[in-house]
Amino acid sequence: MTAKPKPAKMPANPLWGGRFATGPAEIMARINVSIDVDRRLYAQDIAASRAHAAMLARQGILKPADAEAILGGLDRVLAEIESGNFVFKAELEDIHMNVEARLAELIGEPAGRLHTARSRNDQVATDFRLWIRDAIDALDPALKDLQLALLDRAEEHAATIMPGLTHLQPAQPVTFGHHLLAYVEMVGRDRGRFADCRTRLNECPLGAAALAGTSFPIDRDATATALGFDGPAANSLDAVSARDFAIEFLAASAIAGTHLSRLAEELILWVSDRWRFVTLSDAFTTGSSIMPQKRNPDAAELVRGKSGRLIGALHQLLIVIKGLPLAYAKDMQEDKPPVFDAADSLGLCVAATAGMIRDLRVNAAVMLEAAAGGFATATDLADWLVRVLGLPFRQAHHVTGQLVHIAEKRGVDLVGLSLEDMRAIEPRIDETVFSVLTAERSAASRTSFGGTAPQRVHEAVQAARRRFL
Ligand code: ARG
Repeated sequence: MTAKPKPAKMPANPLWGGRFATGPAEIMARINVSIDVDRRLYAQDIAASRAHAAMLARQGILKPADAEAILGGLDRVLAEIESGNFVFKAELEDIHMNVEARLAELIGEPAGRLHTARSRNDQVATDFRLWIRDAIDALDPALKDLQLALLDRAEEHAATIMPGLTHLQPAQPVTFGHHLLAYVEMVGRDRGRFADCRTRLNECPLGAAALAGTSFPIDRDATATALGFDGPAANSLDAVSARDFAIEFLAASAIAGTHLSRLAEELILWVSDRWRFVTLSDAFTTGSSIMPQKRNPDAAELVRGKSGRLIGALHQLLIVIKGLPLAYAKDMQEDKPPVFDAADSLGLCVAATAGMIRDLRVNAAVMLEAAAGGFATATDLADWLVRVLGLPFRQAHHVTGQLVHIAEKRGVDLVGLSLEDMRAIEPRIDETVFSVLTAERSAASRTSFGGTAPQRVHEAVQAARRRFL
């Protein structure tokens, strides 16, 4: 057995190591480091530093020349990162210290004045709010594009008949357009949830400093305004320790993911060999390396699968935060991985779903045939008995049940019953009953507001375009 060499002692951290004789243990450095995750905050971090430096100068806390050097240096840091020339250093822990250390290399002494009247605690809280705000601003047009894809196909298939299901059993015929419009509504609410989250998160923590505020005469309104916030967060302790904005983002993401997962599950059923309601394009299916005949709905399956990540991310952050006393604790550094992962995953899922919907081919004849089976017009028969013969609905339900029973025995659908068969159960039935028993007539008759009739679907598409696009 070879003895493990003792890890070399690291030098103390240049930004906070004043009171430390030695640097961290190697394992301490490894558990502490977050740069591989939080480097994604670089643009927000630099924007917040710029706003802070400009405010410090206006308040006379920084000399104009120092502020100028800082602002110029931050621009150079930003350019280096964006051009891929920036060297991120793990020993500098996180994005805040990587940016500041590079600034010091570039401009020297004034860089050390940037951190006046702030802390990494208000810094990270500010950066993270800005990042999530940007993520919401990127997600909203993607969700809107999905609605557009659904609306276009809904309009095209306003009169395409399919079986409407409850309990996964044939219930009543519906139109495919109507079915797609259900998802337009869900996505509309998802957009609303993100918009609500954006409104609530738009308060600026900057200037809360470590937790108690600062003794410097800062102008928190100015930094808040410069960063596009509605105003400064009112309580410094809350400002640095609140993460409900991130939790809310994850909750909205998890709910949106759940909607996409349900649609993905439907697509998977619809393309299955037993259903064949739709065909996905080659662009959104994959083959099998062993079974040459396969066309697998992998994109839909991954949308369904990734909803698990979204739900997991929400739980992950709730659990991290729930036991934390005020104010900041390093546990909070664990807030970013679930949020970044959720934003990435949801972005992929939304785009893949829009792609599948735009490309899919509808097998209308197969859908219609399925809609006509399973006694799906039994409710229409019962309604006819109420409307034409004046039967109470409960009695009409019973009569219809008896007729379904006879049809089942004969191996025919309701339209396949003879008038004699029907009259044996209810002598007042006449041949006009047959007009309500086809799937098309059934769907066309459901003209109530929000109903499935093609005319209603056309109107609903127009209304949804006005509401959402
Ligand atoms: N990397 C840290 C985080 O993401 C920044 C804040 C560190 N603050 C501190 N007091 N150690 O939470």
